Amino acid sequence: MLEKLYVQREKDFTYPICFENSFEALPEEISAVGLEGRQFCLVTDSNVSPLYAEEVAAALRKISGHVSVFTLPAGEENKNLSAVADIYRHLIENGMDRKGILAALGGGVTGDITGFAAATYLRGIDFIQIPTTLLAQVDSSVGGKTGVDMDNYKNMVGAFHQPLLVYMNLSTLRTLPEEEFACGMGEVLKTGLICDGDFFRRTAADKEKICTELQPLAQMVRRCCEIKAGVVMRDPKETGERARLNLGHTIGHAVEKLKNFSLKHGQCVGLGLIGAARISYERGLLTAEEMNEIRAGIVRYGLPDTVSGLAPEDVLAATKKDKKMDNGRVRFILMRGIGDSVIDHSVTDEELLCGIREILAESSGTDREARAKCGTAGIGA
Ligand SMILES: NC(=O)c1ccc[n+]([C@@H]2O[C@H](COP(=O)([O-])OP(=O)(O)OC[C@H]3O[C@@H](n4cnc5c(N)ncnc54)[C@H](O)[C@@H]3O)[C@@H](O)[C@H]2O)c1
Ligand SMILES: [Zn+2]
Repeated sequence: MLEKLYVQREKDFTYPICFENSFEALPEEISAVGLEGRQFCLVTDSNVSPLYAEEVAAALRKISGHVSVFTLPAGEENKNLSAVADIYRHLIENGMDRKGILAALGGGVTGDITGFAAATYLRGIDFIQIPTTLLAQVDSSVGGKTGVDMDNYKNMVGAFHQPLLVYMNLSTLRTLPEEEFACGMGEVLKTGLICDGDFFRRTAADKEKICTELQPLAQMVRRCCEIKAGVVMRDPKETGERARLNLGHTIGHAVEKLKNFSLKHGQCVGLGLIGAARISYERGLLTAEEMNEIRAGIVRYGLPDTVSGLAPEDVLAATKKDKKMDNGRVRFILMRGIGDSVIDHSVTDEELLCGIREILAESSGTDREARAKCGTAGIGA
């Protein structure tokens, strides 16, 4: 459908990301990366299984005589070590050896769990990603981060493990609930804000086309993968630049945890972006117009711009427990205009509180006061 992207995996090894509108080319793409005839375990979740598992398993059976399907219960609340153990058990029962391949069919939750199982089963076996949510297609299936949550702490246990192939059937997005699509847009807008302002603006403006036509949607997905793959290739283990991909995630993860995952990841990222925009504005890195433009883009795609029922101090405390800390300091990503970002270690608690208040529904009454404390008047003030 669209030209493939090749991502550097090791020094002299790349893997393809395919952008298709059906599963038809899956067998040939798997053969092209040399996996024909291997034993496959297709891991999916309880929502995706009835929609696509049979079709994908049939495609795998064209190139392999050993294909099993394992279905996980859907939902972030199941992204834990017990799901990984269930996969191990299934693999052991099915005699999966070191040559076996896991195939993750589903959203970011399925991809992260399956990738982690692949990274650790028999000290590591190969896997492929077949992402079916927008969020997984634009973000989580690319880059090799795998893992699970631990006692409400996001992605606390994990491993870097790159797939051998990412195969996207973009028509699977047609069955995705609207709210889940919006969540993916949270990561899309984040990607534009990090390093491509034109892309952010185009995406914010072209909502109708993106939501109704496959080609503009595919182009948007491809651009996100291109940007993410570029960043990951330059910094695979997040020792530097890759941290920029966490824009919006410090406050976002804190809200996600405190709301007990009743808000979705992409929604929290949208909130985190608004909080980060506010802090960037206070630093003089963003204009009020730019901050408004960011909020408008987020709202346009149906993502919330406020959250209720949280105390600012609790959100602040939760940001400190995020693993994106560096020697006890919060590593925060600031925006420098629309389409540029910078890693910062000097954001103070006061600045964080100011960004947090920007998204708390209850602070709106006392907003003016809070903003005055920050020294400047922000949007809507
Ligand atoms: N590894 C990474 O680099 C990375 C990056 C970003 C996010 N993540 C992780 O990704 C997860 C979020 O991913 P997600 O938003 O895809 O969540 P998800 O996997 O829970 O999928 C969202 C919902 O959509 C359903 N679904 C999936 N595909 C569907 C389809 N085509 N039609 C109908 N329903 C479908 C799922 O069953 C689920 O209910 C979080 O755990 C987050 O931490 C990881
Ligand atoms: Zn994210």
